[in-house]
Amino acid sequence: MPAGREETRKVTVRTLARMKRKGERIVALTAYDYPTAMILDKVGVDLVLVGDSAANVVYGDDTTLKLGMDEMLYHTRAVCAGIARSLVVADMPFLSFQVSVESAVENAGRFLKAGAEAVKLEGAGPMVGTVKRLVELGMPVMGHLGLTPQSVHKLGGYRLQARTEKDQQRLVEDAVRLQEAGCFALVVEKVPAELAARLTAELLIPVIGIGAGPDCDGQILVLHDMLGIFEPPGYKFVKRYAEVGAAIRDAVAAYADDVRAGRFPAEEHSFHIPPKQADG
Ligand code: KIV
Repeated sequence: MPAGREETRKVTVRTLARMKRKGERIVALTAYDYPTAMILDKVGVDLVLVGDSAANVVYGDDTTLKLGMDEMLYHTRAVCAGIARSLVVADMPFLSFQVSVESAVENAGRFLKAGAEAVKLEGAGPMVGTVKRLVELGMPVMGHLGLTPQSVHKLGGYRLQARTEKDQQRLVEDAVRLQEAGCFALVVEKVPAELAARLTAELLIPVIGIGAGPDCDGQILVLHDMLGIFEPPGYKFVKRYAEVGAAIRDAVAAYADDVRAGRFPAEEHSFHIPPKQADG
C-alpha cells in the first residue's frame, strides 16, 4: 500500500492467502501496547504480532522463557484496543502449548477471547498434532521455524539455523507438515536466504521472513529493533528506520534541564484562580 493511503478493509487469514497468490508483499511488525498498535494499524501494517519478544524488549530478559500467559494476555488486550484493520496474531509463550494438546487449546482460546484473531507457536515435530487440533477447532495458527527462541538452550544460542543440506531438507519437511496441519502462514527466522526462497516457492501458505533474506512473501521485525530504541544496534538482519532511543533520551534531558532551570512549567502551562464573579 502506498504510504499515506488509508486502507480500511479488515485483514484476515484469507487476505494473506490472496496476497501470496497475487505476489503482494505482506508487511508485519510486532507490537505490545495500545499506542504503537494504533500507529501500525493506521499506517497499514497487514499483520501485527503480539510477540513473546516482549520478554526482551519490554521486560529486559535475555530469553523469552520467563514470559507467561498472564503478561501475554495483557499485551494482547492492549494491542487489540488499537487495531481496526490489521490481523492480530498472539504468540503462545513457553510452556503454554508444549505440555498437552488440551492446555494448548485452552491457552489459544484465551488469546482469541482477549481479541487476537490467530496464534503463533514455535516448532514442528510434536507440535504438528497440536496445530491440527487448534485449526480443527477454528483457531488459526501461524507456524515458526528456523531460529525458535524458546529452544535457545537446545540450539546453543541465537545462531543462523539450517546451515547443512540435511538441516535444510528437514526444515522444508517440517514446513510442509505444518502447512498440511493447517497453518495459515509460517514465520522463518534466521535461516539462509536461499532456503527461505525455496520455502516461499514450494509452500502454498505465505512465508514471513525475519533474517531470512529478501525472497519471502512478507517480512516481520521486532518494532523496538527497527525503531532504534536500544544501543548497541543489535542484529545484522535488522534495519533501523529511526533512532527513537536517542530521541527519547534528548527529550527527557531537555525536560530535566527545563525543570531544573525553572523554565517548565511556563505561563502557558499554568492555571489561575478565576476572577471573582461580580455579585447580583
Ligand atoms: O516474538 C517475536 O517477536 C517473534 C518474531 C521475531 C517473529 O516471534
